[in-house]
Amino acid sequence: MADDIATLRSLALAGVAAATDLRGLEALRVHVLGRSGALTLLLKELGRTPADARRARGAALNKLKDDITEALDAKRASLETAAIANRLRQERIDITLPPAPEPGGSIHPISRTMEEMAAIFGAMGFTVADGPDIESDWHNFSALNIPAHHPARDDHDTFYLPGIGNGPPRVLRTHTSPVQVRTMMTQAPPIRVIIPGRTFRADHDATHSPMFHQCEGLVIDRTMTLAHLKGCLIDFLRAFFGVASLPVRFRASYFPFTEPSMEVDIAWNRKTGEIGAGSDWLEVLGSGMVHPNVLANVGIDPREWQGFAFGMGVERLAMLKHGVPDLRAFYESDVRWLRHYGFAALSPVLFHEGPLA
Ligand code: PHE
Repeated sequence: MADDIATLRSLALAGVAAATDLRGLEALRVHVLGRSGALTLLLKELGRTPADARRARGAALNKLKDDITEALDAKRASLETAAIANRLRQERIDITLPPAPEPGGSIHPISRTMEEMAAIFGAMGFTVADGPDIESDWHNFSALNIPAHHPARDDHDTFYLPGIGNGPPRVLRTHTSPVQVRTMMTQAPPIRVIIPGRTFRADHDATHSPMFHQCEGLVIDRTMTLAHLKGCLIDFLRAFFGVASLPVRFRASYFPFTEPSMEVDIAWNRKTGEIGAGSDWLEVLGSGMVHPNVLANVGIDPREWQGFAFGMGVERLAMLKHGVPDLRAFYESDVRWLRHYGFAALSPVLFHEGPLA
């Protein structure tokens, strides 16, 4: 009599056990417990069972219904848990994946070259000073021992700007040397600074730009001599070009604000451009002992203090170091050029440190 119940029980419970997803489980529930499900039909037909057996069969069917419902609920809970676990596994963020490349910028070779200069001189104990691009005639010329009508002014192709009110005309600084003046007027010696910055001259061709950069250096102390100047610049040039035995030549020259003055040359091969090799000389910077008149102009007693100064073209040194043939490329903002000659952000500034020779 209860064979059909036993059969339904084993089929239904086996089906629940075998279900692998929630949809299959729901289909099974409808099939057994739905409005025209197998068990529902048996319950409906209960009325046709002879009265003496009806009670027992009813109890058995209800027990089966409870058991199947319980099995369905348990299975549903475990399938849901498994589905969530599976989704979590699939949606987990893999933090070991490399990030998608972003179109990143690069450090401009001019900025990079100034950073290198600051790093090398920084290691020698220099700090960085700066001053304005728009200068008074006095700071740019007169205080530097270049009085009005001095012929040295003609070399500078100066951009003049109107003065303020009735004041004298101002200039776009033609070199970073006015910051020597500003530094000596605001800092008591001893002084040891470099001054990287923008400079301006009305000149434009493959090796001259109306806006360019210089890096100035100034050391004022009681006992600074020409020997210190030479040692400092030889160390710098060897570190900057990464050539340990780079030949450096000092050649007598003239600047109104230094006495004596020296032009500094390094050895190179004119044909190949190789630095430190070959028998040609290449001028890379100007230098000298700070003129006593300049010290007096800024209120420093030249009988007590002396020192040296130097100035170099940042573009020129960057062109030599990286083989850039045309200075104008620095300012054309051609992204392909910048990508080629630029430096990765955060890449370390490297230079040869310590005794090189
Ligand atoms: N100011 C000089 C120039 O622009 C360079 C220089 C600086 C020379 C300091 C000597 C000392 O050419």
